[in-house]
Amino acid sequence: MVLSCSSKMTPRSVLFTAAAITAFLTTCSASIENPAIQPTPPMGFNNWARFECVLNETLFTETADAMVATGLRAAGYDRLNLDDCWMAYSRAPNGSLQWNETKFPHGLPWLADYVKARGFHLGIYEDSGNATCGGYPGSYGHEQLDAETFASWGIDYLKLDGCNVYPDTEQEYQARYSHWHQIFSNMSHPLVFSESAPAYFASGDNLTDWYTVMDWVPVYGELARHSTDILVYVGEGSAWDSIMVNYNYNLLLARYQAPGYYNDPDFLIADHPGLTLDEKRSHFALWASFSAPLIISAYIPALPDEVIAYLKNSDLIAVDQDRLAQQATLVSRDDSFDVLTRSLANGDQLLTVLNRGNDTASTSIAVARLGLEEAGCSYAAKDLWNGTWTTIVDGKIDIKDLASHATAVYRISLPPRCSAVVPTGMIFNTASKNCLTASSQHGISFAECNGDDTQVWQVRSSGTISPLSDQSACLTAEDGASVVGLSPCGKDKNQQWAYAVTGNLKNVASGVCLTEGAQNNTVTVCGFEKNTQVWALPSGVEVSR
Ligand code: GLA
Repeated sequence: MVLSCSSKMTPRSVLFTAAAITAFLTTCSASIENPAIQPTPPMGFNNWARFECVLNETLFTETADAMVATGLRAAGYDRLNLDDCWMAYSRAPNGSLQWNETKFPHGLPWLADYVKARGFHLGIYEDSGNATCGGYPGSYGHEQLDAETFASWGIDYLKLDGCNVYPDTEQEYQARYSHWHQIFSNMSHPLVFSESAPAYFASGDNLTDWYTVMDWVPVYGELARHSTDILVYVGEGSAWDSIMVNYNYNLLLARYQAPGYYNDPDFLIADHPGLTLDEKRSHFALWASFSAPLIISAYIPALPDEVIAYLKNSDLIAVDQDRLAQQATLVSRDDSFDVLTRSLANGDQLLTVLNRGNDTASTSIAVARLGLEEAGCSYAAKDLWNGTWTTIVDGKIDIKDLASHATAVYRISLPPRCSAVVPTGMIFNTASKNCLTASSQHGISFAECNGDDTQVWQVRSSGTISPLSDQSACLTAEDGASVVGLSPCGKDKNQQWAYAVTGNLKNVASGVCLTEGAQNNTVTVCGFEKNTQVWALPSGVEVSR
């Protein structure tokens, strides 16, 4: 079922489940339907991962002052967001929420004025359930009053969590988040809406509910916490592993992101004691490559210069804030390296290379893997860590001696004669993580990702798909049969594929979907966001919504 937003909006339409129809509201004045609310990902500070419930007025005034003094404010970080535990344990007699007067002696309107005078916005946290995760009053049944209260305090950003929602079904979450969306849509100055609903559906063997929630969050709000919490300061476990867990979740969801809505893999834990400087810099570069929200959760007044320096890297901030808001996707993954790419608004191409391995290592990346032409083209590449330029003359970019867990990032300028980019990269099943692989004898298989050319696919605007290992062969659904293989590229519709925000890769001739695990690597009837039929494709591929 496809519904479109009111005609005064952009002519995009959004896929809905049957259960969503009743909840669908006549206007879509937020998120991807109105990117003006948050045209690029939010940047700022939140107390949670660093301080959890130990927040107070002084922390926020000190942080505001330090962000001005260090230049972080001038670099673009302009939001100061309170997380859980800012409240009193009970509502006022008129039902409104109250701040904790010990923690915030001057009150939140005073704090909003304080931060605004220094160039910031103030944001806040609530929960869509009966209580917040920390046990403070939830908003359920009080939504309109709470929205008005926040606005009257001078707050313009809400992170809405999803603890204590009963029943905890996808439908119930949708009803509650769509209610908030409608309240914001009716306000002259809608609050930026950060939705935590998907995080409550991210684990589990069957991802259909998670994807269903992901289908509606870009319509209702500007960003969504889609998965696990990043490790808190005093948390047990590896902070790097935690970053990698959230990074890997984000890689499953690129198709949802568009200007006005951003996937949120959670905070930048810039002073976590469990991270090396290389790991912190990687965290920042990967989030910027994703055009993810850049919300720092650290004690900013005590951050060392080297950390402030990378947080202020203007080249990486420009990538994060690029107005296309493309999310970098995987070109390849092998034992050591993740290679990612995406396009930027001025026609440049981004190359991000993460060394996931435990040793310093080198690699070389053919420009064809970034979707660029090789023959007769030379490219200029800027290293976004040190600003140096190199010329790529032999069709490949050499990455030398990249330390364990470090990330190299290049912005590649395309000369006018060589400005065409074909979306290129891995096609992988988001549940099994297996890569679509060209096999010998013109067959395909679904195999562990290994970085080989047989797993790097070019997805042309005509809808044809070829492996880099044989660009004259196209992915084909055989006529009258359900077998998928590779055959010489032509113009037949059985070689054309359409990608939907559901993750389905649908054959244009037969309307059936690429399916992992069926006999003979078949296409089968498209189901609704079934694990076997949801695919991650390279950024830049057109996504039908
Ligand atoms: C959840 C959220 C966190 C934080 C806490 C507060 O765990 O995911 O980001 O807001 O609640 O209790």
